[in-house]
Amino acid sequence: MNQMLNIVIFGPPGSGKGTQSDKIIEHLGVSHISTGDVLRKEIALGTEIGECAKLLIDAGQFVPDCLIIKLLEKEYDKLNNSKGVIFDGFPRTTDQAEELKKMLAVRGADISVMLSLEVPEEELIERLVNRGKTSGRADDKLNTIKKRIKIYEERTAPVIDFYQKENKHTPIKGIGTVDTIFSRIEKALSGIV
Ligand code: AP5
Ligand code: MG
Repeated sequence: MNQMLNIVIFGPPGSGKGTQSDKIIEHLGVSHISTGDVLRKEIALGTEIGECAKLLIDAGQFVPDCLIIKLLEKEYDKLNNSKGVIFDGFPRTTDQAEELKKMLAVRGADISVMLSLEVPEEELIERLVNRGKTSGRADDKLNTIKKRIKIYEERTAPVIDFYQKENKHTPIKGIGTVDTIFSRIEKALSGIV
């Protein structure tokens, strides 16, 4: 069995996946794959994938599974000497969760834990509207934020059931200071690393 630590950081838009990933990286020295960041890089580079993704992302919609899975696989294989990987923003659908399991299985690996950040909707909206003042992200506008949250509820929240069945789902209370939340994550990881 491959000994790499494979962590899924999960939660609605604005729940702190990126923020807490930075803390985990600092703490464990693992690598990070944020599918949102990968797509935004493709957009900035003006690639064909980026052109196609931009319209969807700006409208708060998902990029097709087949495209995102290929991108993810490419990013993961770049990191095969790493201590571990945090998956941020992936999986976002149950199909993606199944594909991730298959992709890891052929590499002799599996997900070690799924950290699921729980944050009330009003707080998500407040954080993202605030971030929108400086982020330059076209999807950080109130209407698009609401749409992203709705799509999360419909298409992404069912991923929780997938990891519950795998005994990997670990809820983390995602409100409080960044450090308070990270100390909850540290506690959850202490049984694993
Ligand atoms: P992605 O970039 O993954 O966006 P998201 O899931 O909507 O989440 P965010 O990055 O906005 O929030 P976050 O949870 O990382 O929180 P953060 O730490 O930044 O995806 C963007 C788009 O790409 C998708 O909509 C989709 O179109 C496409 N895409 C990506 N992956 C895909 C996939 N797998 N399949 C299909 N399409 C895909 O924090 C948010 C803000 O809150 C920050 O300003 C932060 O400073 C602040 N904050 C953080 N923690 C706290 C705290 N404790 N207290 C107060 N403020 C805090
Ligand atoms: Mg993020």
